[in-house]
Amino acid sequence: MINFDEKRKSFHLKNNCISYIFYIMKNGHLGHAYYGESIEDDVSLENLVRERGCVLAPCPFKDNMNFSLDIMSQEYPCNGTGDFRDAAFSIRDEEGSTITNFKYHSHTIKEGKEILEGLPSTFATKDESMQLEVCLYDDVLDCKIYLSYTIFKDISAIVRSARFVNGQKQNLFLEKALSLSFDLFDSDYKMLTLDGAWSRERHLHEREIREGQTSIESKRGASSIFTNPFFALKKEHTTEHIGDIYGVSLIYSGNFKAVAEVNAYDSTRVNIGINPYDFEWKLEKNESFITPEAICVYSPLGVNGMSQNFHKLFKKHLMKSKYSNQIRPILINNWEATYFDFTEDKILQLAKGAKDLGIELFVLDDGWFGQRNIDTKSLGDWDVNFDKLPSGIEGLAKKITDMGLKFGLWFEPEMVNEDSNLFREHEDFVIGTPNRSRSYGRNQFVLDFANKKVVDYIFEKMSKILDCGYISYIKWDMNRNITEQNSQTLDKERKKEFFHRYILGVYDLYERLTKKYPDILFESCASGGGRFDPGMLYYAPQAWCSDDTDAIERLEIQYGTSIVYPVSSMGSHVSASPNHQIRRSTSLKMRGDVAAFGTFGYELDITKMSNDELNEIKEQIIAYKKYRETIQLGTFYRLLKGKYNRYAFMSVSESKDKFVLGIFKTLCKPNPGLKKIKLKGLDENAHYKCNENNKIYGAKELMNFGFMLETEFTGLVQSKDYKGTLTAGEDIGDFTSCLLTFNKI
Ligand code: DGJ
Repeated sequence: MINFDEKRKSFHLKNNCISYIFYIMKNGHLGHAYYGESIEDDVSLENLVRERGCVLAPCPFKDNMNFSLDIMSQEYPCNGTGDFRDAAFSIRDEEGSTITNFKYHSHTIKEGKEILEGLPSTFATKDESMQLEVCLYDDVLDCKIYLSYTIFKDISAIVRSARFVNGQKQNLFLEKALSLSFDLFDSDYKMLTLDGAWSRERHLHEREIREGQTSIESKRGASSIFTNPFFALKKEHTTEHIGDIYGVSLIYSGNFKAVAEVNAYDSTRVNIGINPYDFEWKLEKNESFITPEAICVYSPLGVNGMSQNFHKLFKKHLMKSKYSNQIRPILINNWEATYFDFTEDKILQLAKGAKDLGIELFVLDDGWFGQRNIDTKSLGDWDVNFDKLPSGIEGLAKKITDMGLKFGLWFEPEMVNEDSNLFREHEDFVIGTPNRSRSYGRNQFVLDFANKKVVDYIFEKMSKILDCGYISYIKWDMNRNITEQNSQTLDKERKKEFFHRYILGVYDLYERLTKKYPDILFESCASGGGRFDPGMLYYAPQAWCSDDTDAIERLEIQYGTSIVYPVSSMGSHVSASPNHQIRRSTSLKMRGDVAAFGTFGYELDITKMSNDELNEIKEQIIAYKKYRETIQLGTFYRLLKGKYNRYAFMSVSESKDKFVLGIFKTLCKPNPGLKKIKLKGLDENAHYKCNENNKIYGAKELMNFGFMLETEFTGLVQSKDYKGTLTAGEDIGDFTSCLLTFNKI
């Protein structure tokens, strides 16, 4: 999968899907040559790259004005040697100079993939992947950069990172250290990003890129609810299912920056990595620094093609939990049922009701510790509130386990309330600057996870609870962003290491807990989806998508999330109607059908529901158990977004013997024309039977003609019992849905 051509001095990373080619340029730097669909091994470099200079373009050679770094496509560009676009890194020496000149030194190619120490990273066996490491050297600084490239069998992805190793001469200061940089030949792309805010996370947006920089970033200490660490560049006519698209993503949960920079000569630089904002890292002699890994995916099969490659990579080579490729338990969470107002009896009633409905896991959310009856108190005091829960966590968890349910528990390990014992005893554990006030976020402060003592303390406290052995699931919440970013334990030359060290502390705690308790399923959460990123997925194979559980808003959120993240990672629950966040009313059916495209659960007070509603939930659960494997572990396709006032998703099982189709209508349109949707990914030689209407369809018929959508209101049907024609099972009216299951016959 990786070949070095001695004569041309070029590297070719290649599998069935992609080729990625770069080479050693005549000045010793690395030049980028090609990234796209797989091409011949003996491709001529002369056709892929052309040296070019022009007036005002600086040149490293006295006698060759046709070679300018400002125009050439590059791999990991230096600062100050003639390229005026953004560099991939910046190193300051003891004299204050940031001019560097890193040249090819050596390389190694090996089978398999090494994981990164202290950071989440991809993994793969020797049969599944190959890794190339190219060493660049700057002799004036005596510093090396090792660029790592991994290619995987059958996946259109390359994973990259960079390691800086200081030599013997002097201390160096890394001002910027991106994970990935490459230059695309052209610039006629549209950028896709996933942005939003609390309760409307990861909405898909599209914008033009033009001369100059188009960028996304987070400076909040978390990958953030506002912009996800991902963007894609697609050609104008690229659709969901066809056309070129490049996607980049960062395996990191802290501040990031991703930039597409178009220069005057119509090429596009793609840069992604740790945000250089308020970042600097001191490298003493012989010390090293490793960047997080970045992923780039190319697909000629449109946005869905790109998404499926991200999903495959994450499920196979990133999510390390034993649950990654297993079906997930159906859970009930008490948050929207009780908020802080619960007793042990209430929790047991909810659990008993849940068991009767067929639910498999009970999750006790916020409010079980200290004096936590309100969000101004006790965060950080991880000792059970015996007034509320007389049997303690161990006793309660045992009772619930004895009912035949698994038990899960909420923590917010990184935070503290001012009104807490932890704050009173250990103000030194909290980030901030002496003699300055701290900003509040949800009435809480941030613990200094850059300080190992703090991480040790929280690990001990959590272990004390978890050691009871009855806890099968943890919801790890994080409800504010970082301000007054200062660790009092860092000396003045290292103050700007804080943001990165904080995230390393979070990863350290995750690493220790997941190692000590490998059977616990972790779900990450940050006021909903505020840290939904590949870094978190490494430890926690599912993440709470959003605090907004309204079925209609969730369609948009889950649609956007699926652009990068697999269905099995999306925590999605059926909640009350009217919805607690936006007060919209939707049917139990629609709430269930939307939540089904995720890790399914309930978050409402089932003790207050009617028998009819409980019976409907029972049926929902019986049905979901039959098809959850297909939805959670199959291949996911987005079919419609807003067109015909509908969204549609489908998941096809790995062997293509089953599939599930979900069709969701927002507002009803009176008397429209007939509409159909073309299905995807079926076994084209097969016929499939729809279990809901007993009809048989040819796979080619479904993929080429399509599946006919339900007829909406035409004026001919008056009966109040009208339930549609039952071809698709959608009701007439606003906010309706159907979920259809098909088996190959
Ligand atoms: C924010 C989360 O997103 C909610 O689901 C819930 O766990 C609350 N925090 C609890 O404080």
